[in-house]
Amino acid sequence: MAEFSLPKNSQVQAGKTFPAPAGAKRVKKFQLYRWDPDTDANPRVDTYEIDLDKCGPMVLDAIIYIKNEIDPTIAFRRSCREGVCGSCAMNIDGTNTLACTKATSAIAGDVKIYPLPHMAVQKDLVPDMTHFFAQYASIEPWLQTESAPPPDKERLQSKEERDKLDGLYECILCACCSTSCPSYWWNSDRYLGPAILLQARRWLADSRDEATGERLDALEDPFRLYRCHTIMNCTNTCPKGLNPAQAIAEIKKMLLERSL
Ligand code: SF4
Ligand code: SF4
Ligand code: FES
Repeated sequence: MAEFSLPKNSQVQAGKTFPAPAGAKRVKKFQLYRWDPDTDANPRVDTYEIDLDKCGPMVLDAIIYIKNEIDPTIAFRRSCREGVCGSCAMNIDGTNTLACTKATSAIAGDVKIYPLPHMAVQKDLVPDMTHFFAQYASIEPWLQTESAPPPDKERLQSKEERDKLDGLYECILCACCSTSCPSYWWNSDRYLGPAILLQARRWLADSRDEATGERLDALEDPFRLYRCHTIMNCTNTCPKGLNPAQAIAEIKKMLLERSL
């Protein structure tokens, strides 16, 4: 990809309008952010008038309908359409969420769809996730042990130990939370952001992991962890109902307790 552009809404121009076909009865307008590295008309918002009787109930259904039936040039990510892969995260009606679990009927008026905020855009609704996933790799998100494994079984957990992973393991790394966080907008070069910190907490909370000290050492940094100012956008926006702000607070508590 040759170049990137940030989606700054104030610079967005009006684009093309694709009117509904004659005879359409339940028409709704979908306004999609467009940015194409191969043209100069950037960025713009194109408007598609959709007959809701022709497509499924979710915003992702409408976007797929637009791509298949009206305008094949639109770029977006999706895979599972069940809220488990995280790839269809975008800003819909002013909120970061998953297009596949957001019902069109829940949106009054026109449906405004933008890429995740404050990310470089590769094309249209496709943000560049390279840095986000490099940050994920930096926390070493896998089980680390020094002791020998039991000879005849897996490393087991009690029910109570397993329960400590609830609210953490469900994260699908959609980045809705991190891209809603003002601290992450301004400091994403050094601040890990709520999604990656929730993942870090997931490994700190795992009774089988034996690298707790090293993990905490790596997080004890004014930027990587402590740029969180408990603004709570992350928790308010998570489409899986998780609480990254609490996970971050738990990491800070672990660091405090080990310093006493
Ligand atoms: S609580 Fe922390 S991580 Fe969440 S939005 Fe606020 S500053 Fe960002
Ligand atoms: S915590 Fe929620 S919003 Fe953040 S990446 Fe995980 S699933 Fe997405
Ligand atoms: S397509 Fe997988 S979460 Fe939406």
